[in-house]
Amino acid sequence: MTLKKIELHLHLEGAAPPSFIRGLAARDGVDLPRIFDAQGRYIYAGFADFLRVYEAATALIRTPADYAHLVGVALEQCAEQGAIYVELFVSPEFCGGADLPAWRDYLAAMTEAAEVLGAQGVDSRAIVTPIRHRGSERARWSAICAAETAGGWVTGFGLGGDETVGRPQDFAWSFDCAREAGLGLTCHAGEWAGPQSVRDALALGVTRIGHGVRAIEDPALVARLAEQAITLEICPVSNIALGLYPDWRSHPISRLADAGCRVTVSTDDPPFFHTTLTREYDRLAETFGWTEAEFTAMNRWAAEAAFCDDATRQRLLAALG
Ligand code: ADE
Ligand code: ZN
Repeated sequence: MTLKKIELHLHLEGAAPPSFIRGLAARDGVDLPRIFDAQGRYIYAGFADFLRVYEAATALIRTPADYAHLVGVALEQCAEQGAIYVELFVSPEFCGGADLPAWRDYLAAMTEAAEVLGAQGVDSRAIVTPIRHRGSERARWSAICAAETAGGWVTGFGLGGDETVGRPQDFAWSFDCAREAGLGLTCHAGEWAGPQSVRDALALGVTRIGHGVRAIEDPALVARLAEQAITLEICPVSNIALGLYPDWRSHPISRLADAGCRVTVSTDDPPFFHTTLTREYDRLAETFGWTEAEFTAMNRWAAEAAFCDDATRQRLLAALG
């Protein structure tokens, strides 16, 4: 499908191809962690192990130049899929240990790389992302990094990591700090935790939910998401690859859309799940009969929910048609 697309949910390290990680290990002369199968693809068993593999790969991405290189690689991959606008989850905790001066160095390098790709037609913004299983105290440092560098490339704040650890309200201070700095808010919820986690995320004042698919287990919550025009950043292949749903037919995206929810489609960590934006769209068309009109409507919702300035939003809406 050659449609113009918007991707709202892409973890930067999760976009690193295995060859990128292997190249860094070879450069630094370090042993590769046990994260690849015999064919050289990422291998993991379930969500907790996925997070372990993710962080083991991430540990090899060290310098601001490495991160800038990765931003270029990730956005080039998006461009190949027809993406015109991408929001990347970036974590100060991985980029210099959530230390503000170090974060500024990483951010300057990444912003420069993003500008190069912007000039080639893929606009992007960053969502600063604390890692939930590292705790709310460390998240505060990420929130401070986000607030101090808000504007420019950094326009959003979100919470990633292991949803089975703690609760969204543990991170209220960080979300308040980010909101006061003018950042858009999103939170992973309703992926590994049930509908209550989506309600807890909404209480933080988010306008978007990362995944949110398990809202389908609570019809009143689905109605509320539709009514409040909350945008769901849905990553179907991620949900299937990690075992949340056994197959495409049982994925709730189509039921959420039919119930009036603003569903959008993203890839989460594409090389980990052997997916691309185009593959997600093709499977949606095959499984649920979605047509170009449905994909365009979905991308318009994504543009409306994007953490960008209004001029950018109008330009995206015009480009989507
Ligand atoms: N970090 C990278 N991918 C993630 C996911 N799907 N959920 C939570 N944290 C993540
Ligand atoms: Zn995610």
